[in-house]
Order: sequence, then structure tokens, then C-alpha cells
Amino acid sequence: MKKLVILISGRGSNMEAIVRACAVQRWPARVAAVVSNRPDAAGLAFAAAHGIATAVVDHTQFDGRDAFDAALAQVLDAHEPDLVVLAGFMRVLTPAFVERYAARMMNVHPSLLPSFTGLHTHQRALDAGVAVHGATVHFVTAALDHGPIIAQGVVPVLAGDDAAALAARVLRLEHELYPRAVRWFVEDRLRVRDGRVELAAAEPRLLFGGNTV
Ligand code: GAR
Repeated sequence: MKKLVILISGRGSNMEAIVRACAVQRWPARVAAVVSNRPDAAGLAFAAAHGIATAVVDHTQFDGRDAFDAALAQVLDAHEPDLVVLAGFMRVLTPAFVERYAARMMNVHPSLLPSFTGLHTHQRALDAGVAVHGATVHFVTAALDHGPIIAQGVVPVLAGDDAAALAARVLRLEHELYPRAVRWFVEDRLRVRDGRVELAAAEPRLLFGGNTV
């Protein structure tokens, strides 16, 4: 059984999708804990209701990133995670923290990386006038929103979209994409060679969504 620890900052809908997929698809894994940097993260209630240990490491209580990341690592390590899953975790992590979980920490980012790293990705995609947008699951490395790409999901940008409509279309796809990528890890199907992911599975690394919207 692999142990997963999921980090959230808010709603936690990706965390929810992973918890549900893990149970329904009977992964050889369990979600050992859900940890938030914000005490008011809505996702904590879902995790607790599903019998998952929860913890809060409130970044506002720490003097700088190093102290916060050290405290966070202590909480994570108590659960001996095989994989740390960033699911809407909105803190920039220090290189030391990233190094500690090298090759065993994933993130979902709401854009087709390497385009639109950082924040406000949906509005920036609209402003750029792109015809496709999406989400990327990748291993976390020290460079923000970089790191070997595990899977990507593509949605169309439609006339009349605003950032909220586009975000909702992308989020629906994230809920398929992220559990799939985590399952590949749990099943030992992912290798990284020369900074690129090799997948030992007959499933595609590319998903399409939003066709009916
Ligand atoms: C998701 O869209 C995720 O891709 C994004 O935040 C949202 C979290 O939603 N993550 C980032 O922007 C990370 N830089 P959720 O809390 O409902 O899973």
C-alpha cells in the first residue's frame, strides 16, 4: 500500500476526486492525510468526513518560507508519504523542501505548461487569444510550475468564455486527469529520464475535455 499525503489551500475538489478514485478503483494506496496551509480550507471537512487525518500548518504563523516549509515537512514525514500530492496548494515551496520530496511530489497546474506558469492562468489565456487551454500534472522541481510533465488535458476556448467559464471547463478535466496521474504513480508506471516522463501504460497522457460545453 502506497501512502499519499495531499496538500490543499482551499476548496479541495481535486483532492476529493483523488480520494474518491482511490476508493472506487481500489488503488493499492491510501490517503494518509490531507494537510492545508489555511485553517479555513473547505476541503478539510470532506477529508475529515471520510476518516482521513487532517492537519493545518498555517503559513501566517511562521517567520519566512524556510520555517514554514520545515514545519510542513515535519507534519508530512510523520505520515511517511510515498507521494506528496499538491492539489490547489497555493504556496511557493523552497528548493530544500522540493529536494526532500524529489521524484515523489506532484502538482496540477491550470494551464498547458510551459505556457502560463503562475497565477490567473485562465484570464491570461483569454487575453492571449489562444484557442486551446487546459491543465498539466507534473513532478515538482525547484523551478515554479516546471518539472517533468506526466499528463495534460486540453479544452477548447469558446467564444463568449470568461475566466470563470473557462476555469470550470478545465477543472472538470483536472478531476479526470489528476487521479489518473496519481494512479500511474501508485502502480509504479512512471519513470523520469532526461527530464521527461516515460509511462508504462496503455493509457494516453493526453485527455480532451469540454467538447459538449
Ligand atoms: C485547480 O484549478 C488547480 O489546478 C489550481 O487551483 C485549483 C484548485 O482547485 N492550482 C493552482 O493554481 C496551482 N498553482 P481545488 O482546490 O478545487 O482542487
